Amino acid sequence: MQSPKSIQIPKATRYQNAAIDYYTGLTNSDFLHYGYWEELPAPGEELTITRLRVAQEAYSMKLMSFIPTGVTSVLDVGCGIGGNTKYLCDRISSSRPDEDFIVEGLAPDPLQGAKFIEKTQGKIPFHLSRFEDFTATKSYGLILFSESSQYVAVNDLVQGTSCLLAHNGYLLLADMMRKDKEYQKGIFSNCHLKQELQKALETAGFTLVKSEDISQNIAPTIDLCVDNFQRFGLTTGKYIADVLKIAVPPLYTLANWAYKRWLEQPITEGLAARKIFDRHLCYEIQLWQLSR
Ligand SMILES: C[S@@+](CC[C@H](N)C(=O)[O-])C[C@H]1O[C@@H](n2cnc3c(N)ncnc32)[C@H](O)[C@@H]1O
Repeated sequence: MQSPKSIQIPKATRYQNAAIDYYTGLTNSDFLHYGYWEELPAPGEELTITRLRVAQEAYSMKLMSFIPTGVTSVLDVGCGIGGNTKYLCDRISSSRPDEDFIVEGLAPDPLQGAKFIEKTQGKIPFHLSRFEDFTATKSYGLILFSESSQYVAVNDLVQGTSCLLAHNGYLLLADMMRKDKEYQKGIFSNCHLKQELQKALETAGFTLVKSEDISQNIAPTIDLCVDNFQRFGLTTGKYIADVLKIAVPPLYTLANWAYKRWLEQPITEGLAARKIFDRHLCYEIQLWQLSR
């Protein structure tokens, strides 16, 4: 079985990798995306990790429905630990038995690479690389960015995709995007501005074939994360603080100062994530075709 070779990974990417690994640990899922809640929960209805997993499978199915027939090679950029890649590979191969369907994964994280290889039993090629640094030896029929476009600058995404795509190839994007250009700071600010991404793709010769706004269908996952964070994360933090206050008061004073200095603001923002998303962002699946 192959194993990912080591590469130089920028510090910002290492922080993102750590957050993704944390998310994987919490959900215990092979998918790292928000999922697609086909049935929207009623207000106040309990959201569970089990329901998230159902939504994640529905999302992969939804994504698959966007892959045009005739596409036989896919590069899954930011493939995570392989859940999505394997799902697409298995389902497309079995629904199109006459076509030789090939999928490859790419991510700049050795830990994800090791899990990817384990979960796909080494049958799906994995490239340990940032998209920006990737040099391919062949072209692909479709490049997939499933919740990974936000980590790659617009120019790198457009130029890299143009270089890697075969004649009339496709780009499939599924991600959060900013619909409000004034929203530039905060938890979701690394998401691309929808109009800017669209303009750059059109300028490079891409045409939008199909798109769907699924903001409402991913939003319950934000509610679930906030709810779990509030219930387990903050409650545990408060308990530790209470114990520290009794056992080691000077350490409590120091920790309280550090909390107010570095954590209070991001936590307040995290708790307001759903409101921020509804106000400034959307989540779209977009299929683009490059016509040269
Ligand atoms: C939220 S996860 C999505 C994983 C997977 N596509 C899915 O839908 O389950 C984001 C992925 O993008 C990857 N990523 C981050 N920066 C990247 C870059 N510069 N080039 C390629 N992938 C990157 C992360 O390592 C991770 O695998």
